[in-house]
Amino acid sequence: MMYRYIRQAVPKVDIKEKVTGKAKYGGDLKFDGMLYARTVYSKHPHARILNIDTSAAEKIPGVVTVLTVKDIPGSNTLFGGFHVLTGDKVRFIGDGVALVVAKDPAIADKARKAVKVKYEPLPAVFTIDEALAEDAPQIHESAEGNIIDNSRHCLIKGDVEAGFAEADIIIERTYETQFVEHAYIEPEAVVAVPDPIEKFITIYGSIQNPFSVRGNVADALGWNMSQVRVVQSTLGGTFGGKDESAMVLSARAAVAAFLTGRPVKIVLSREESMLESSKRHPYRFNFKVGVKKDGRITAMETVVIAQGGGYNNKAQFTNWRASIHATGPYRVPNIKTEVFGVYTNTIYGGAMRGFSSPQCIFAVESLMDEIAEELGLDPLKIREINALRPGDTTPSSQPLGPGAIPAPLLKMLKDVTEKTDFLRKREEYSKTNTGPIKRGIGLAVAFRGAGLGGEALDATGAMVSIQADGSVTIISGLTENGQGLKTVHSQIVAETLGISMDRIVYPNVDTTIIPDGGPTVASRGTMIGGKAMVMAAEEVKGKLLQVAGEMLNCNPSELVIENERIYSTSNPELSTTYMEVVEKARSIGVMLAALSWFSPGVADLDHHTNQGEAFPTYVWGVVVAEVEVDTETGKVEVVKVTSAHDVGTAVNPENIKGQVYGGIVMAQGMGVLEEMEVEDGFVKSLNLDEYLIPTAMDIPEMDVMIVETDDSFGPYGAKSVGEPSTEIPAAAIANAIAHATGKRIRNLPCNLERVLLGHKLTRKGVRK
Ligand code: MOS
Repeated sequence: MMYRYIRQAVPKVDIKEKVTGKAKYGGDLKFDGMLYARTVYSKHPHARILNIDTSAAEKIPGVVTVLTVKDIPGSNTLFGGFHVLTGDKVRFIGDGVALVVAKDPAIADKARKAVKVKYEPLPAVFTIDEALAEDAPQIHESAEGNIIDNSRHCLIKGDVEAGFAEADIIIERTYETQFVEHAYIEPEAVVAVPDPIEKFITIYGSIQNPFSVRGNVADALGWNMSQVRVVQSTLGGTFGGKDESAMVLSARAAVAAFLTGRPVKIVLSREESMLESSKRHPYRFNFKVGVKKDGRITAMETVVIAQGGGYNNKAQFTNWRASIHATGPYRVPNIKTEVFGVYTNTIYGGAMRGFSSPQCIFAVESLMDEIAEELGLDPLKIREINALRPGDTTPSSQPLGPGAIPAPLLKMLKDVTEKTDFLRKREEYSKTNTGPIKRGIGLAVAFRGAGLGGEALDATGAMVSIQADGSVTIISGLTENGQGLKTVHSQIVAETLGISMDRIVYPNVDTTIIPDGGPTVASRGTMIGGKAMVMAAEEVKGKLLQVAGEMLNCNPSELVIENERIYSTSNPELSTTYMEVVEKARSIGVMLAALSWFSPGVADLDHHTNQGEAFPTYVWGVVVAEVEVDTETGKVEVVKVTSAHDVGTAVNPENIKGQVYGGIVMAQGMGVLEEMEVEDGFVKSLNLDEYLIPTAMDIPEMDVMIVETDDSFGPYGAKSVGEPSTEIPAAAIANAIAHATGKRIRNLPCNLERVLLGHKLTRKGVRK
C-alpha cells in the first residue's frame, strides 16, 4: 500500500518545543499568588500515628497553613487505598502525614521539619515470606494474610497432572526480580488552581492519566468530577510511574488550593519522587515443568507472587497480565498458573513499562535455557520446538494463524539468529572463553497481548474538527508522554483525510473537552487511540466528500482526497480542493467535526480459567544480546542487542526505533544495574548518584529489526511497541551472562556481586 504519511519517518510534531526549551513542564508553571506545598513523610515503615502537632510549623513566618487528615473535605482514601494524608497508621516510609503550605518552597521545606509526629511503631513485614508467615502482622485490615484484594488470577488449560505423567523429566526452578525505579528525567510536579468565580478547580501537571486524577481529586474535595479539570503539561517521562504519585499529589494540591483559595504547587525533589512514586513490582516465580526427551514441553505449573509494598492499585492488573504470559509464547498443552500479590511495609509496586511482562519473560526465558541445558539442546532449538505457530492456540486458547492472530515467531527466530550469527557465536565463545573476560550471547523471545484486553474495558475517543481556515484540531483522551502519540495520531489523521500534516494542531489532554478515554497505558495509544482517530477522520472525510459531491454534481462515493485535491475516480478532471470544500461547507452550515468512540468490547473470557479472548491481538518479539563479562570484577558490558518486533504496520519507523532504543537501555538497567534496595523498610539510595541507571557510556550497539505482519485489528494494521521494546532484553542479557560465565543468576539484577558469586537466590539487604 502506498501511503503519504503512514510508514514514513515523520519528525515528532512536538520536538521543536522540547529541544529549544520552550515546552512547559509542570515545574515551569506559575500563577499569581501561588503557594508551595511540601509533604511531611513517615519516619517508620509501619506505625500507628498517635499525635500530629503542627503548631510550631504554623508559627514560622511565611507558612500559610499546615494540613493533616482532619482538613480533607471529601474522602481521604483514594483509589487503591492510598491517602491524601495518612491519619491512622503509616504503612511505608513514603506515606505523607502532613502538608505544609507556604509562600515559598524553602520555607515549606524548613517548616515541615517543625511538624512533630508521635508514632507507636508496629511490627512490620518487608519480604514476601515475612508477609505470608502464619503470624505475620497485618498491614491492611481488609487484606487477610496480607494478600492484596483481587490480586489472585489463575490460568488453567488442560490437565497438568496428566502432562507431568507424560514427561520424561521434571524441572523445578525459582526466579526473582527486584524493585526498579522509572527514573524519568522530570520528577513529579502539579499545580492546583481554584476558579475565582465558580466552584471549580484546574489541575495542571506532570500527569500520565488525567482522568484518574480527575476522579480522585473530586473524591478528595467531595465534589463532582465535572467540577475538576485536569490539563496535562509537557511530560518529561513517566513509563507508568506518574499515576499513583500524580493522583496523591494532585489531591493534596487541590485540597490546599481549595482551603487557601490560592493556586498551590507541589514539585517533588528527586529523593521524594523516588520515595513516593511506584516501582516495578518484584516478582517471584516457582516453576515446575514437564519435558519430553526431545524437548517438547508437556506441562507447566507456576506459582507467581508479586510484592506489592505498602499500598496497591495495580497488582490486580499486572497479575492478570502475568497469568496470561507466565508460560511464554510456547505450545504448552497443560498449564496451571496461579498469580497473587502481597502487601509489605516497603515502597510499592505499580505500573512500569511492561506491566509484569519483563519479570515473566526473564523467568520463563531463563527457564527455557535451563531446560535446553538439561536436555543438551541449544537455546534456539528448544524455542523452535516449542514456539507457538500458526494453527496453535495461545495459553488462553485463542487461535493463531491465517485469518486469525498472526504468529510470526518461528520466522522471526530464524531471521534474528541468522542475522546475529547466533549459533556460530555461541559455539565459538564456548571454546574461546579461557581468559578472565568472557563473551556470551543470549536469546529471549516473547509475545504480548496488545492493549488492555481482559484486564479492563478498553475504550477511547477522538475528536477531529476542521476550522474555517482549514486548520484541523485533533483531540484524544490519551496523552503524549514522550512516546510519540501526537505524531502518530497526526500521521493517521492526515493520511485518512488526505491533507497536509502541517494543518493539524493537537493540544494536550484537557478533561473538560473530551470524554474519559481511559489511561494511556498498555501500549494502546497507537492501536486503540489511533483507531478512534481513523474513525473520527473517516466521518469528517465523509462530510467533506458529501459537500464536494454537491459542488461537483457527482456521487460522493466516486470521490477521493489526495494531497488536498478532491477528484472523481471515474473522471479525474472533475475536481476541487480541500480549502474550497471547507469554505463551501461553512457557507451551507455543514459541521466538519466528529467525535468517535472505539472499543473492542468486553473480552469474552472465563475469569476462573482465563480461557477465552484475553486480548484482541498480540505482538511478537525476538532479542539477541551479546555481553562481555569481567569475571574478576563482575562487571558486565552489554556489547550488542539485536531487537526484532512485530508491530503490524510501522506507522513511523524512526519513532519505533526510538522506542526500541530506549526500551533496550531501560531493560539493560533492569538486567545488570538497577535495584531499589530496601533495608528494614528504608530505601538505601534515594537519588541517582547511588541508584545507577545506564548512561550514554553504557549503551550497547543496537540493531532494531521492524517486522510487519498482516493484522487487521488496529488502525492501518498498526499494533504496539512501547512496552514490547523493553520487556525482552533483560532476559536475553541474563541468558548471555549465563552463557559467558557458565553460572546462572536467577535473581535480577545480574550486578557485580551476583556475577562474582553466581546463583544466589536470597534477596540481599532485606534485614540487617
Ligand atoms: Mo503502563 S506500565 O501500561 O503505564
